[in-house]
Amino acid sequence: MADRLLGKRIFLTGAAQGIGFAIAQACLAEGAKLFLVDLDGPLLKKTVAGLAAPQGHIGYVAADISNGKAIAAAVRRADNEIGPINALINNAGVNVFSTPLKASEKEWNRNFDVNVKGAWNCCKAILPGMIASGGGAILNIASTHSFTIIPHTFPYPVAKHALLGLTRSLALEYAGQGVRVNALAPGYVETQKVTDYWNSLADPAAARAKTLALHPGGRIASTREIAMAAVFMISEECPFMNAACLVVDGGLSQLQHPA
Ligand SMILES: NC(=O)c1ccc[n+]([C@@H]2O[C@H](COP(=O)([O-])OP(=O)(O)OC[C@H]3O[C@@H](n4cnc5c(N)ncnc54)[C@H](O)[C@@H]3O)[C@@H](O)[C@H]2O)c1
Repeated sequence: MADRLLGKRIFLTGAAQGIGFAIAQACLAEGAKLFLVDLDGPLLKKTVAGLAAPQGHIGYVAADISNGKAIAAAVRRADNEIGPINALINNAGVNVFSTPLKASEKEWNRNFDVNVKGAWNCCKAILPGMIASGGGAILNIASTHSFTIIPHTFPYPVAKHALLGLTRSLALEYAGQGVRVNALAPGYVETQKVTDYWNSLADPAAARAKTLALHPGGRIASTREIAMAAVFMISEECPFMNAACLVVDGGLSQLQHPA
């Protein structure tokens, strides 16, 4: 075990699988204590059982981040189980893909309830403790959808743009109290969610090949490659990074169009 996150007590959402699971593994390996939250209780329990962690280094609860009361209770539990939270990683998110005229009000609300309000709920419950104890670090898992648009993925990018706005607003409000708030923007990452997206299209194999070809390196990110960036951003290795968005997309978002 290394010690880049020694003394960090991290509240991490969406930890049961995908990028969140990789972040949990990477943070534990760097000496952090974790409190994990996910909507999928049975999967979260299974995930926690598979994580190699020293005694007392992991707490968890099944909760919906869009429910402010449930999150406030989860934070109280986290404080009791692993100690006062000094780092928050808002990772849980959902893909809600449609088009502007087809998207229903229900889809719009789900998109914003989870992808924006969920992050805000966690910040609201955790910030007072951070401020009282002299500071902390918040990391929001944004996306290249936070500043670029893929047609037919509406309204997901609208929420991811808003998450960047939330990041900057909180970062400027609380910089004076020692709290850093940043965003990490992955492009495509090897997760079930991305596979599901390809499978939802007419020709999944062609969709995958087309996506890989968009990347200058001819591949997409592993979850570990995103997790390593997250570790850096909440560590003490970048104490003056605030209100920033770190793009980890292999160069995808700089491509105007393929040659
Ligand atoms: N996979 C990608 O290519 C990619 C790219 C850019 C950004 N992202 C972002 O990274 C984050 C993680 O994505 P992923 O691909 O690992 O997703 P995933 O679907 O594999 O995992 C997300 C987890 O969040 C949980 N979750 C969903 N809604 C929740 C809620 N209301 N309350 C609590 N937990 C909830 C799910 O149960 C799931 O375990 C998301 O914010 C996503 O938008 C993913």
